[in-house]
Amino acid sequence: MDISVIGAGYVGLTTAACLTELGHHVVCADNDLAKLGVLRRGDVPFYEPHLPEIVKKNHSAGNLEFAATEEAIDRNEILFICVGTPPLDNGEADLSAIESLARVIAQRAHGYRLVIEKSTVPVQTGRMLQKHLAIYNTNNLQYDVVSNPEFLREGSAMEDFFHPDRIVVGAESARAVGQVKGIYSKILDQSFICPVHPQGCGNRTRASLVLTDINSAELIKHASNSFLAMKISFINLVADLCEAADADIKKVAEGIGLDRRIGPAFLRPGIGFGGFCFPKDLQAFVRIAQTFGCDFRLLEEVEGINRRRIDMFVEKVKKELWVLRGKRIALWGLAFKPDTDDMRFAPSLGIIRRLLAEGAKPQAYDPRAMTNARKEFPEVTYCQNVYEASQSAAAILVLTEWDEFRAVDWKRIRTLVDRPLIIDGRNMFSHGQVSSYGFQYVGIGGTSRGGPAEHVGARLVAGDFGEEVR
Ligand code: UDX
Repeated sequence: MDISVIGAGYVGLTTAACLTELGHHVVCADNDLAKLGVLRRGDVPFYEPHLPEIVKKNHSAGNLEFAATEEAIDRNEILFICVGTPPLDNGEADLSAIESLARVIAQRAHGYRLVIEKSTVPVQTGRMLQKHLAIYNTNNLQYDVVSNPEFLREGSAMEDFFHPDRIVVGAESARAVGQVKGIYSKILDQSFICPVHPQGCGNRTRASLVLTDINSAELIKHASNSFLAMKISFINLVADLCEAADADIKKVAEGIGLDRRIGPAFLRPGIGFGGFCFPKDLQAFVRIAQTFGCDFRLLEEVEGINRRRIDMFVEKVKKELWVLRGKRIALWGLAFKPDTDDMRFAPSLGIIRRLLAEGAKPQAYDPRAMTNARKEFPEVTYCQNVYEASQSAAAILVLTEWDEFRAVDWKRIRTLVDRPLIIDGRNMFSHGQVSSYGFQYVGIGGTSRGGPAEHVGARLVAGDFGEEVR
């Protein structure tokens, strides 16, 4: 099918590239001409594993074109709206890009357009789109509006596109439903080899198709992200209690997560959630509820718990270091999560701000995010690896659980630091792992020493009690 994708950011470029992988011909548009130039050179202006290869392959094969917005609107009947909906100061989503796009489509397009909103939008945006397409309709345009929210996680966006748990479609005409089913048919009937994992993406089950009205489809996205964020704030609360009550959050989370109604995912405590989705979508959802007269103070508390993780963590650092002024502090990881270069709303930003305010000297290493971090904090020392970052450090703070940190040479780190202290904001390591190298380990949620759970666990595995543990 011939498809236009308007907006070439995290969502738009990923959607455009993946749609060409499904065999469609895609025109991807952006009103940022500099960005179009970068894309036409075959470069991708942000880090997303596997995306550059897919973009390059399909761009050079001619299945993926880059053009200005007007051309993309003129060329194809199917238009994916993937423009940004950033938060306004009051927390509401800024829909100006969508509103102006509706006007341009209504004034330029002839014949029929299927307008598919993929950007995360407040409920009833689709209604407003329909209204504005009608108001500015200049050429007797026939159109349908569809809500098709994305559930892409940064760092695994390709897998999430090709192996979604569900494809949500909010539509109000059989024609629209038929076309969207055609767009995703290969994913829905699994007649498609994922370019990322040709041998299959693990235990991903077949995607479900959720067909509903536009309002419900729009609500699913905000509700989904808010629930995940709530799960994280919940486990962070439980982690604080574990710390106070001498329990072990890793075992508590394991024990909770084995209940299939809860599930193990998103029960990892730490310095909180960041990124451009959870913080933004939570705020927007609270505001949306308020405009409809609904009380979402629960989600405001989810936000509050998340904000307080920064102070909680800095207090841990001060408890161990006493005075921060003048001390070199190693920061392992800066990005809001591994496998991305994205620093937006990253917890590391709040932590760096507090450390600098206390007169500490942060020296940071992140495999991907330092270019973006430097724009926020030029005064931080950026290092080429964890060893350089650990040089003469009074403490090592783990802020992002990058896989490459799992293979560090602890003996070498031990010779570099001023004090062998690890304060692990992502519970990436354990006391047992590092204490044998002479390190003091401070984790989150009672994992700071070989607590009873870890010790008992070890004995039970070793069969110290004599009987076989089944
Ligand atoms: C999220 C949603 O998962 C995705 O479906 C939606 O489309 C976009 O927003 P993303 O923001 O890319 O994706 O990252 P995600 O993997 O969800 O993590 C968000 C934040 O939560 C990260 O800062 C991560 O470190 C944190 N997190 C995640 C935890 O603190 N604990 C966990 O157990 C899981």
